[in-house]
Amino acid sequence: MPTEPKLDTAAERRVARQMTRDAVRKSAPKLHTVVKYPDPVLLKKGEPVTEFTPELAQLVEEMFDSMYAAEGIGLAAPQISISKQITVIDVSFKERPEDKLVLINPEVIDRRGKQLEEEGCLSLPDIHEKVQRDAWVKVRAQNVKGEIFEVEGTELLARAMLHEIDHLHGILFIDRLSRLKRDLVLRRIKKLQKHGDW
Ligand code: CO
Repeated sequence: MPTEPKLDTAAERRVARQMTRDAVRKSAPKLHTVVKYPDPVLLKKGEPVTEFTPELAQLVEEMFDSMYAAEGIGLAAPQISISKQITVIDVSFKERPEDKLVLINPEVIDRRGKQLEEEGCLSLPDIHEKVQRDAWVKVRAQNVKGEIFEVEGTELLARAMLHEIDHLHGILFIDRLSRLKRDLVLRRIKKLQKHGDW
């Protein structure tokens, strides 16, 4: 009579658990709600990550799933009401797997030049304004295992990293606009709120 396969070692059990988790995630990814301005969680600095656990890796995967579902190329943990220094970026939006970038406790350690391009944000739907950013940046961060690494970027990648790192410090792209432009945007948001469209 065939017996049930037995998982004898901790490693086998861990693999089995991971396979179950992967299967569950693939069938129904856990999607987090992206909060909108002026949710207070967006306006404060995120806590540094100190523990690099399987739960953290899981959260990062959920952040990618939530970002893709919202059709964004970057998402910071405060945007899903988690006030921590975690952000995910994919400037090619699933086109090139190597573009998937996780920045934990990131810091800009070098910057050069300027670029001026239009920016948007999942927490500020339908608001698009030109924002001045550094043309080239070097960022030091930790990965999901806690290993420190450095990444350099220009153009969209530089912009995305700077935008997301700003989120981890409670800064939104509208805070980078001139006073006049920022006031116009805030007035537009108030109007949308009044009509229940925000
Ligand atoms: Co944003």
